Amino acid sequence: QLMDKGNHRHFMQKEIYEQPVVVAQTLRSYLRPLEEQVALPDMEFDLAGVERVAIVACGTAYYVGMIGKYWIEQLARVPVEIDFASEFRYRDPVFTPSMLGLVISQSGETADTLAALRHMKESGLTTGGIINVPTSSMAREVDLLLPTHAGPEIGVASTKAFTCQLAVMAALAVNLARAKGRLSREDERDIVRHLREVPEAMSKALGHDAEIEAIAPKIAVARDVLYLGRGPEYPMALEGALKLKEISYIHAEGYASGEMKHGPIALIDDSVPLIVIAPSGPLFDKTVSNMQEAQARGAQVVLISDAEGIAQAGENTIATIEMPKVHPLIAPLVYAVPVQLLAYHVAVFKGTDVDQPRNLAKSVTVE
Ligand code: G6P
Repeated sequence: QLMDKGNHRHFMQKEIYEQPVVVAQTLRSYLRPLEEQVALPDMEFDLAGVERVAIVACGTAYYVGMIGKYWIEQLARVPVEIDFASEFRYRDPVFTPSMLGLVISQSGETADTLAALRHMKESGLTTGGIINVPTSSMAREVDLLLPTHAGPEIGVASTKAFTCQLAVMAALAVNLARAKGRLSREDERDIVRHLREVPEAMSKALGHDAEIEAIAPKIAVARDVLYLGRGPEYPMALEGALKLKEISYIHAEGYASGEMKHGPIALIDDSVPLIVIAPSGPLFDKTVSNMQEAQARGAQVVLISDAEGIAQAGENTIATIEMPKVHPLIAPLVYAVPVQLLAYHVAVFKGTDVDQPRNLAKSVTVE
């Protein structure tokens, strides 16, 4: 039953479409709508005592960690460091008292992440884990389990686990902010309201599937694709590039919008699609000027933004994909959808094995 694709052609497509439901399910276990509060499971330590956070993960989960760094530092003013699990273990990281070690993993079995978790525990850190498989080794070994309720994820390229991890990361950031005395009741109420809007905003994003499918043939012929984003949309650009690489085998890179001029702009000509992930907001103009530098060199831009952003910068693009206007905190959850759909349709157009891409494993249990 659980292994059934239903009406979908691939598990990945099914899992992309499940997101409004599983993200709502995940959020339900963290939101207290009556109190208008965000809550975490009971824990044996005091979040107020956390002075630093060290995040460790691999692959798609690593990008959740990067977004978490933006959120936790902004909301709670607690410094966050983040490492690939495979790097963390061998760089002899500096552990400080009152550091929380946080692992993020869909499977809870990735060898590098598990070893990093054990290393943190042996070094005396209190640990937490954002984990999808509740019976996994990591779920059993962390001090504080922060479950995602994405259900079984079959497609090798992670989609619904990613957005559920983001939902839990947001809950953690808010709780840390409250514990640190950085969040007023009113601000928290506001955040709860925005988080509750996520499933509907994701459904709206899914409503653009046919448009995204129509763009896919133009991307599928490219040799290289660049993704640009700024702030929390920078990790989204990295995730977009990873998704495309994983399932369509097209070389793709994600870049922070402002960094493009320091290297990747050299790659740009009229054969390079540029996917710009940019909700409107205070830094939108800067991203637009980065985008225009690329357009002046012939880049074929796909702009993913909201109505306001598209009205301002949608000209001279090969396509625009309009997202609902959302609060910046929830934008990565919503913008994940078109990014996943684009990779999916490009791969389907190219005829690759979407659910079982070559050389990749769902869970990497060797170093
Ligand atoms: C593999 C999968 C990725 C996943 C990564 C981390 O590389 O192909 O989709 O993001 O492992 O897996 P985890 O289970 O730890 O989240």
